[in-house]
Amino acid sequence: MLLKATLLSVASALILACNAVGAATSNIVGGYLLLDPIEGPSKLQALADNAASIPVNRVFLAFARPDMVYVPSSNTLEYVGLNYANTADYGFADLKAKVATLQAGGVQVFLSVGGWNYGCFPYPYTYYSVGGYGTSTPNYYKIQEYGTLSNCTATNMWCYTCEPPSQNTTLADFDIFPEPSNSATWQQAQTYVEATAGGDGVVWHPQMIPGRSWTDTNNSMVLTVPGSDYFLTQNRDPYQDLVYLAKDLGLTGVDIDYEEMWHADYYRNGPSAGPWTSHQTVYKYTAIIKDVQINIQAIQPSLLLATAASAAGGLSTSWWGGNLKNIWYNMHAWYPDAYNFVANGGGVNIMTYDLSDNEQYYECPDANTCTLSEQVNYYVNSYTANGMSAHVGYEIGIPAYPDPTHDPTHQLPLIQSELTSILSVQGANGGFFWEMYKPAGAATNVDATSAAQQICAAALGNVARCSGSIPQPGGGASPSATVTVTVTNTVTAPASTTTQAQPTTTNAPPTTTTSAPGGACTAPAWSATTAYNGGAVVSYNGHQYTAQWWSQNNVPTAGAPWTDNGACGGSSPTNAPGGCGGSTAWSSSTAYNSGATVTYGGYLYTAQWWTQGDTPGSNSVWVQGSACTSTRRRRHLYQ
Ligand SMILES: *[C@@H]1O[C@H](CO)[C@@H](O)[C@H](O)[C@H]1NC(C)=O
Ligand SMILES: *[C@@H]1O[C@H](CO)[C@@H](O)[C@H](O)[C@H]1NC(C)=O
Ligand SMILES: *[C@@H]1O[C@H](CO)[C@@H](O)[C@H](O)[C@H]1NC(C)=O
Repeated sequence: MLLKATLLSVASALILACNAVGAATSNIVGGYLLLDPIEGPSKLQALADNAASIPVNRVFLAFARPDMVYVPSSNTLEYVGLNYANTADYGFADLKAKVATLQAGGVQVFLSVGGWNYGCFPYPYTYYSVGGYGTSTPNYYKIQEYGTLSNCTATNMWCYTCEPPSQNTTLADFDIFPEPSNSATWQQAQTYVEATAGGDGVVWHPQMIPGRSWTDTNNSMVLTVPGSDYFLTQNRDPYQDLVYLAKDLGLTGVDIDYEEMWHADYYRNGPSAGPWTSHQTVYKYTAIIKDVQINIQAIQPSLLLATAASAAGGLSTSWWGGNLKNIWYNMHAWYPDAYNFVANGGGVNIMTYDLSDNEQYYECPDANTCTLSEQVNYYVNSYTANGMSAHVGYEIGIPAYPDPTHDPTHQLPLIQSELTSILSVQGANGGFFWEMYKPAGAATNVDATSAAQQICAAALGNVARCSGSIPQPGGGASPSATVTVTVTNTVTAPASTTTQAQPTTTNAPPTTTTSAPGGACTAPAWSATTAYNGGAVVSYNGHQYTAQWWSQNNVPTAGAPWTDNGACGGSSPTNAPGGCGGSTAWSSSTAYNSGATVTYGGYLYTAQWWTQGDTPGSNSVWVQGSACTSTRRRRHLYQ
């Protein structure tokens, strides 16, 4: 009997070990790749061409729409929302070929669903997340730029809390995760959730349908839910179609990137003064995971399921709004098999991004846990200490939160000393990062290649790929699907949160710089080290600004204490915070006069006096301004 038991356990250990070859996430170094029709194909081409030597062994393709439709064997990305290409099949064949090449080179490929924009419902996010907890929350200033909450309307995109105006986003760029009650597997998932629900009574909200009218009874507001009801008119389940699509593309796995903070804040429960529960969001999210799991088991059992989780998601302590705190803790407590299906499959990957040390909003877990590495280790530990397997996430470059123009001093970017500290604790467990082509943004920040190499070496040891680089797109191989299209910014932005807090979202635009004709600013360039009195006029980023009161190191933006007098010469594009439109890339051979602006390393720089050949960032003639490029990210966290 003993022998038999031993043999059995050896057999199960072998089975586990075999599964682990595909499934173990401790030896994974994953990079998110944000796709768009302009650069996405060439970036993916470059990665595929160099698959054996890139310093990651998993790529997450981002992002598909949560209300997608994919009919098995249809071989088209038309209703998937990846914005990958405008070819007849919307890039399906091209993407599939690159997936195969990457895998042949030892790189797993996952398709990620959701992200920031495809989970941000602007109206409830503004009214119940950013604006739902009084005026002292971190992103409330976005509302104040328009007056008060009642000044936030569809016309101003509900005060641009999901995306700033510079993103040119329309309501069509957002989406929500639907509750497809037309689907048999969704109904199975609902039954599963109801059976062991450990908190408030389960309430589903199938009446909130993407693309259709919905009434907010709390505010007597009738509006259209972002997204499309196409899945419903076709009687399809997007979570099932995701699995069919993954099978037809030959993917390694799928990734659910659920960031619907508005859902938690709108459906919260508890005394009006708080704290609240966010149990309805646990139920909705778990049903999504379960529906995908049911379909994986039925359609493509080898497919792995991963998820991106919020940093505060593993905590069990009181919730004061925002940040998706407690969601994964409660999911694990009530639905351990669903949690573990993800954790032991593609992995639960914690978005330890966009952390801040701004104590005005209680953004450090405690007074002694404020550096990036201390906070990252704290949040990862909150998962693992409760027996929840999870992996650390790194954000390259300028964090999206706190807003780099509004609160630059409380940013916690990934610098080398912090990366070293995080790796010393988390390194052996692997990890993932956002995003493979995001610029470092500052000389002191670790760039994507260096971060990937170090995460790789810590997780995999000294294997050859860990000394490889993330290749630049266009290195010889031409993308097979280049198109001109509006880049819809499906991206994930950050959020923050805190005790009563709100996420942010900043998404600086990609550096598409059309150079502004004429119109040099005549006022002296704004300088971070100069103190300005009320009435002072400066130029910054192609605009002139007048100070309303004394300030120092307050980057001029359209808001207080600066008044935006408009573009100099009237012809340069508007530069919302984070934008670099209108400025051209710095060139070592060009002579620049005082006030000239250039972009360099993902930042805008303003010349303080005449200069030539002085690299921005290395010489005080250049004053660093806002970050330009994709500050797009994913999101955020906290207490
Ligand atoms: C906000 O709305 C009120 C009432 O409609 C209006 O009087 C006020 O001017 C608006 N504020 C801004 C900044 O537009
Ligand atoms: C919406 O209204 C209900 C019923 O009055 C209330 O219980 C709930 O707290 C309100 N939700 C929010 C987010 O204000
Ligand atoms: C938004 O539109 C303006 C004006 O057309 C353009 O200059 C800018 O590049 C656009 N921004 C993005 C992120 O596409």
